[in-house]
Amino acid sequence: MSIAEKFVTLEYGPAPEDPKEAGAWLDAHQRRFALFINGAWQAPAAGEYFDTVDPSTGEKLASVAQGSEADIDAAVRAARAASAKWRALSPHIRARYLYALARLVQKHSRLLAVLETMDNGKPIRESRDIDIPLVARHFYYHAGWAQLLPQEFPEYEPCGVVGQIIPWNFPLLMLAWKIAPALATGNTVVLKPAEFTPLTALAFAELCQEAGLPPGVVNIVTGDGSTGEALVKHPDVDKIAFTGSTEVGRAIRGATASSHKRLSLELGGKSPFIIFEDADLDSAVEGLVDGIWFNQGQVCCAGSRLLMQESIAETLIGKIRDRMSTLRIGPPLDKAIDIGAIVARVQLDRIERMVKQGVADGATCWQPQVALPSRGFYYPPTLLSNVHPTSIVAQQEIFGPVLAAMTFRTPREAVELANNTVYGLASCVWSESVNVALHVAAQLKAGVVWVNCANLFDAACGFGGYRESGYGREGGREGLLEYMEPAWFKHAPKLPASAAATESPLLAKPARSGAPTALDEEPAESTPAIDSTVKLYIGGKQARPDSGYSMAVRAADGRLLGEAPLGNRKDIRNAVEAARKAEAWSKATAHHRAQVLYYCAENLAQRREEIVQRVAAVVGEKQAAAEVDRSLERIFSYAAWADKLDGAVHNPPFRNIAIAMNEPIGTVGVICPADAPLLGFFSLVMPLLAAGNTVIAVPSEKYPLITGDLYQLFDTSDLPGGAVNIVTGYASQLLKTLAEHDDVDAIWCYGDEATVASAKAMSTGNLKQVWTNEGRAIDWFDAKQGEGRWFLEHATQVKNIWVPYGE
Ligand code: NAI
Repeated sequence: MSIAEKFVTLEYGPAPEDPKEAGAWLDAHQRRFALFINGAWQAPAAGEYFDTVDPSTGEKLASVAQGSEADIDAAVRAARAASAKWRALSPHIRARYLYALARLVQKHSRLLAVLETMDNGKPIRESRDIDIPLVARHFYYHAGWAQLLPQEFPEYEPCGVVGQIIPWNFPLLMLAWKIAPALATGNTVVLKPAEFTPLTALAFAELCQEAGLPPGVVNIVTGDGSTGEALVKHPDVDKIAFTGSTEVGRAIRGATASSHKRLSLELGGKSPFIIFEDADLDSAVEGLVDGIWFNQGQVCCAGSRLLMQESIAETLIGKIRDRMSTLRIGPPLDKAIDIGAIVARVQLDRIERMVKQGVADGATCWQPQVALPSRGFYYPPTLLSNVHPTSIVAQQEIFGPVLAAMTFRTPREAVELANNTVYGLASCVWSESVNVALHVAAQLKAGVVWVNCANLFDAACGFGGYRESGYGREGGREGLLEYMEPAWFKHAPKLPASAAATESPLLAKPARSGAPTALDEEPAESTPAIDSTVKLYIGGKQARPDSGYSMAVRAADGRLLGEAPLGNRKDIRNAVEAARKAEAWSKATAHHRAQVLYYCAENLAQRREEIVQRVAAVVGEKQAAAEVDRSLERIFSYAAWADKLDGAVHNPPFRNIAIAMNEPIGTVGVICPADAPLLGFFSLVMPLLAAGNTVIAVPSEKYPLITGDLYQLFDTSDLPGGAVNIVTGYASQLLKTLAEHDDVDAIWCYGDEATVASAKAMSTGNLKQVWTNEGRAIDWFDAKQGEGRWFLEHATQVKNIWVPYGE
């Protein structure tokens, strides 16, 4: 080609990054890697190795140890042995270690970037300019937190030994997202990299050695899913942090249910990329390149669903096709390549299968005419248009360079389509109208909203999902909380099994209710003192139970006090529906919510004497008086909090601000603690209400008759119908329906070990968040234990809205 022709075509030659240093590093290890346990390299116990392959060529790069149960055990032991000393180090010394790691990542950034590209297939431009700089940034940022920890979190302790399992799409970056906060907060770590991409984690192990990190603080055990499973099941691990597919996330939730392991899950997504007609279309198309063709679309938060306003659809599709035609696909070590290789043959097969299915479902498939390299795993950028919202390619994660396009007419329809997914990880909104963009952003059910930008990340801005995209955040202040627990809670005594919110010995067998009262069937009770026969409270109305049955409620001395309805699954379903409809509560202003809660306190104060008297029959006069008085304080506390749950404004190192909003989780099912019937109820329900959630509460079986007092209180306090629903009955049965209900977003379950384990196990369906007392006793009368930020943090989830500024 002549120079004149080159000027016209703008075609340019290859510009490969030099792989020599990475090759030398692999050779120095004889291209065979052992496990990094207790600060040293150890051969795998079973002597097994597997190959890791360069996906751009299909050639083997190295053999890597397949970690077994025995290896995981050795690593966990090393991490446990290192734990006490590591956490006892002064925060400044821990900060120095993290700082040293950040510096070493920078120093070796070229090696790390090339190695990442060779192992994963991602363009060197991305590993060099995005992945590795962000890895360093994470260690710097968390070096800062290590230093500030005692000032900012004085009452917290690290979880202990943390098991971390990461995927192959951002191998070293995911390692940094996991290891940096864990170390900063004083935990020790066993990390299992993905089987397709173990190399940079092994290089990082060497950086730990170079930084002089004490042995056992970081352990890297390579292997496949079975190695991950062994880590999840190891009894001496205190927390599991996982990033990967929703399917495996669900399995891990099930596998950890009967343990006290803390769990954070960062799972899949099907993120909407919404473009309004007033958007700067050329910028939006550039955003889309980052949104779906970054890292070959193998990104959990990829903008894989394009939602275009109908009026601009045709123009936009034209622009997108033009831009797709200019994307350069080829060997990822070439600095001028936009799209590299797909991580593995199995992933390529999956992408091909799903695109075929999308076309079979009626989508139109368009791909630019590009020549793919003759070897390695490549897939061209792909546009599927006319996609039906229910098609598999609109609903399931493809994890490839495939965009599924749909149209909408109004902002409202855009929000509906965007939220029409089980996921909720990220989203993009493109509009030149700040009002439209922010109004839509507020309604999207996603942990991240990028306004007029795409795929931006920073250590200061917590990242994580809503709904089946998982729970917990990585990065930011909120990310630290995933690795710590309040010290008092960690050491709280276990609740005896009998004190749990299961069938209480105080309760008689359920009797048929209705007139004449079933109490006639109780001959031992010559003069039963029936204080109240209550109903359920659903949608702001008193409701009879579907079963028509009720349960007898007895005083501490065995005297029959009255009857409470025996709620069943139908009642729970009605209550969930009512709670869903009460969305106005979450949209009400914080000031309004505060006023309503104060009003509840006012009304409770007015009824103090009668309620004390009634509760006294079950818990004694002294506790009853204390319960009512503390309840008053607690409600005041949360009324105070309601308008102070401010978020934050982050300043990431771009021309952006990220607005971190504390949003309600949604509809929450609450199993109230057995021991303090009134105070326990308010201690859990009030923080949820203050944060704007709607609630279905199952009161203590010990004294479900408080329901009568509660609905009178709520009815007279301007609480909108459905914001709180109360279903009495056997907690174990009601818990099942609540935990399995797909329209319930979270469960707060306070009971004994068996009850909380079943809450976790039954919640795997829609991966709802489960927060429990872990079977431990909580002193509800102690404000330090029974109220405050800890509760509110669990009642909210952070949404980061990124807004650019400047030209
Ligand atoms: P995966 O979820 O199976 O793998 C992620 C990590 O979990 C790997 O380290 C793997 O070894 C480990 N693992 C697998 N089974 C395990 C188990 N039972 N217990 C503990 N750890 C286990 O993801 P995979 O198979 O690599 O990719 C499949 C699909 O998952 C992709 O096509 C994509 O749709 C999705 N995916 C989503 C990611 C995300 O960031 N959201 C990341 C990777 C995959």
